[in-house]
Amino acid sequence: MKDYNFAHKLLAWYHENRRILPWRDTHDPYIIWISEIILQQTRVVQGYDYFLRFMNRFPDVDALAAASEDEVLKCWQGLGYYSRARNLHAAARQIVEWGGFPERYENIRQLKGVGDYTAAAIASFAFGLPHAVVDGNVYRVLSRYYGIEEPIDTGHGKKYFAAMAQELLPEGKEAADYNQAVMDFGAMQCVPKSPKCEDCPLVDGCAAFRDRKIQELPVKSRALTVTERYLHYMYIEVGGEVAVFRRESNDIWKGLYEPFLIETPAACAPENLLNDEKVPSFIRSDKVVMTYLCGGVRHQLTHRTLICDFYKVELADKPDDFGRRVCWVKKEELSNYAFPRLVVMLFEKFGLW
Ligand code: ADE
Repeated sequence: MKDYNFAHKLLAWYHENRRILPWRDTHDPYIIWISEIILQQTRVVQGYDYFLRFMNRFPDVDALAAASEDEVLKCWQGLGYYSRARNLHAAARQIVEWGGFPERYENIRQLKGVGDYTAAAIASFAFGLPHAVVDGNVYRVLSRYYGIEEPIDTGHGKKYFAAMAQELLPEGKEAADYNQAVMDFGAMQCVPKSPKCEDCPLVDGCAAFRDRKIQELPVKSRALTVTERYLHYMYIEVGGEVAVFRRESNDIWKGLYEPFLIETPAACAPENLLNDEKVPSFIRSDKVVMTYLCGGVRHQLTHRTLICDFYKVELADKPDDFGRRVCWVKKEELSNYAFPRLVVMLFEKFGLW
């Protein structure tokens, strides 16, 4: 089904309302790639300054490939979903090895961290290839306009929407603008809560508006499950140096730094924490001054609620039995390291860097 009416109205809306953004009106695949990775799971207002800083620091793929992972993560600090930054860095090295940015969809798709969506965006915006982008905005706009109750989080549903988006894609030069248009329309007009139906140019043909199903679409088969994790951070300082640890476990904060961490399976009050077997014995010594700075700080991630207590530990000598690899960092140099946003907030709250 080619619905020229839908594409035509959407393009007319786009030419009136499009956002002027620094990664548009360019065909440079590097710029487009960086912007699309930043804009995954991140809104334009949040990603905008990161994009400018990132391009300033790593103006081309050679600069990115030559950097260390620590430098790339530092530039990403606070943006979340840090695997995006690690993958960008690895992919930059892949591109340099290949001798240049790939120009075919199948090759772009092989870059680390590039999925169907990002490959389609780069192929379309940089190389004018006829690939429809499918992101959260596209699911929302299509499911509402066409009244589709197919869940968007199943293999079948994803295939259904991908095929539909590809069908709707106009031919030729309009394809890239159409791709940008659906995303802008979803981000500005057909927003998740309280979409602006009163002045929507597509309202006449919108099935969800007609059937009063705006709030029910798009459909998800699974509710988001959020689990709680209990973190106890210890800011361990010895003679102006602070113990920090690079997270090596394969999770969302891999490669970032943090103070000494004890995690407990449930909430644990300060008076009970020292009984936990994971607390190293040197912290129990009489000579240690341990101060409880704050507790119960809640930090919301997509699938996790972190509940965090924060301690300061002052010691006379550096201990040698952390049981994990420590980096001793001068307090005034802490800000050169990439920390999760939660840790930055704690450092700032207590003037610790
Ligand atoms: N979100 C994802 N990609 C985008 C783009 N190219 N422009 C605006 N918002 C976006």
